[in-house]
Amino acid sequence: QTCARGYHKNVVDHFENPRNMGSFDKDSANVGTGLVGAPACGDVMKLQIRVDDDGNIVDSCFKTFGCGSAIASSSVVTEWVKGQHVDQAVNIKNDEIAKHLNLPPVKLHCSMLAEDAIRAAVKDLKQKQQKQ
Ligand code: FES
Ligand code: FES
Repeated sequence: QTCARGYHKNVVDHFENPRNMGSFDKDSANVGTGLVGAPACGDVMKLQIRVDDDGNIVDSCFKTFGCGSAIASSSVVTEWVKGQHVDQAVNIKNDEIAKHLNLPPVKLHCSMLAEDAIRAAVKDLKQKQQKQ
């Protein structure tokens, strides 16, 4: 199941076979959880990352209660962030996701949700680590 950035031509696959659906223990010290909602439609996305001691993302998963574009966007992001450092992952942009999935303008807020979710997950992780 290799799906590195720029690897697949068939991004439609993300709509039909979302990757990395699931949950990590949100209380675990090396897990960051981002939970975000889209005011426009009420859809909700939870995206999680698991990091090593240096802040490299070793795993990522999501649960999205929303439209197909939101699900596909979260799927893409969980693929992209694996192997990235958290400080790199926060730079993922909504328009890169939208372009990758060829989303129409009316669906841009769906990929925005994924951008918000990864940032929120990193923020959660950092807040947790500061408390330790
Ligand atoms: Fe999977 Fe690009 S097709 S991340
Ligand atoms: Fe709202 Fe897609 S329609 S997240």
